[in-house]
Amino acid sequence: TKIAVFASGSGSNFQAIQEAIEHGELNAKIELVVTDKPGAFVITRAKKSDIPVLALNPREFASKADYETAIIEALHEREVEWIVLAGYMRLISGVLLAAYSQRIVNIHPSLLPSFPGKDAIGQAIAHGVKITGVTVHFVDEGMDTGPIIAQAAVAVVEGDREATETAIHKEEHLLYTKALQQLFK
Ligand code: GRF
Repeated sequence: TKIAVFASGSGSNFQAIQEAIEHGELNAKIELVVTDKPGAFVITRAKKSDIPVLALNPREFASKADYETAIIEALHEREVEWIVLAGYMRLISGVLLAAYSQRIVNIHPSLLPSFPGKDAIGQAIAHGVKITGVTVHFVDEGMDTGPIIAQAAVAVVEGDREATETAIHKEEHLLYTKALQQLFK
C-alpha cells in the first residue's frame, strides 16, 4: 500500500511507521512526507530514510483549496493510496477529503470523544482523569471527530506529565502500526 504521512512536528509516529515497514511488520511504503512546517524535525527524519518531502507553506497559497490541490497533485504523481496523519496540525478540508474519501486516518493522544483538539494530554491531566489513551480514527471535516478504528488505554502517571506523555507516545507507536496493518490487509 502506497501511503503519504502528513506531519507538522517531531515525526516520532512517522519514524515508528517507517521502522515497522523496514522490519516487515507493515505492508506499506511511505512514498512522500507532507509537511506544512518547513522547519519540522520530521523532515530530518524523512531525509535519513531517503523519503521525499513536500514542504509547502499554506500561507503562500491563495486559499486552502489551492494548497490542498497542490498536495493532491504530488500524491497522484506518486500514486499514493492512503493518507496517514501523524501530528499534522491542520484540519483537512473538502478538497482532500473528496480526493481520498475513507482513505485518511489520524492518531490522537486521548480516548476520543474525550479531549479533542490541541494538547489532549494536558487537557486530560487538567481534568484529573486517571485513565486516558490513544485513538486511531478516520478523518472527516471535524476536529478529531471521524469514526474510530482502534483505541488503547494508558494510565495517567500522577503528578508526572512527562512520564504520562512518554507512555502515551509509546502506545501511539504500537497502536498506529497495528491499526494500519489491519487497514492495509
Ligand atoms: C502525537 O501525539 C499525535 O497523537 C498528535 O500529535 C503528536 C505527534 O507526535 N496528533 P510526532 O510528531 O509523531 O512525534
